Amino acid sequence: MAIRNIVKVGDDILRKKSRPVEKFDKRLWQLLDDMRETMYLNNGVGLAAVQVGILRRVIVVDCSQDRSDYLELVNPEIIDTEGEQREAEGCLSLPGESGITLRPAVVRVKAQDRNGNWCVYKGEGLKARCFCHEIDHLDGVLFTDREIHEAVEITENKGNDK
Ligand code: NI
Repeated sequence: MAIRNIVKVGDDILRKKSRPVEKFDKRLWQLLDDMRETMYLNNGVGLAAVQVGILRRVIVVDCSQDRSDYLELVNPEIIDTEGEQREAEGCLSLPGESGITLRPAVVRVKAQDRNGNWCVYKGEGLKARCFCHEIDHLDGVLFTDREIHEAVEITENKGNDK
């Protein structure tokens, strides 16, 4: 296993669409192992392959406090959502930045495991946000594209009125 460098905002690759994984081989397993290690080293709750420079539809996630809920999702697709949530979000590719986004409260995601078997995962709260955030990366979308600015605008208007 090896730690990989995380691509930072400004690099065009983050805006590209990732391609589906077709081969469930040692190369994929190496990528997954490296992504896991890289996510944990950087104290992330999720990481998409594009963030280590690989345009393949692969994400890893662990939203637990004690790093006990590790998941790897290959070719993930959101199949169902419920409700909504507005919470703060950040990204390892945008260090030091955070913003409020609108996300579903609950999501169900269909994905393949490292051997190509399809599974369905359910995420609520942080895990739902994380699934959506990482799957967005696979389509070149960053959380800043989904930021809600209403609160900021209200504050600014108040300032202008004075
Ligand atoms: Ni991110």
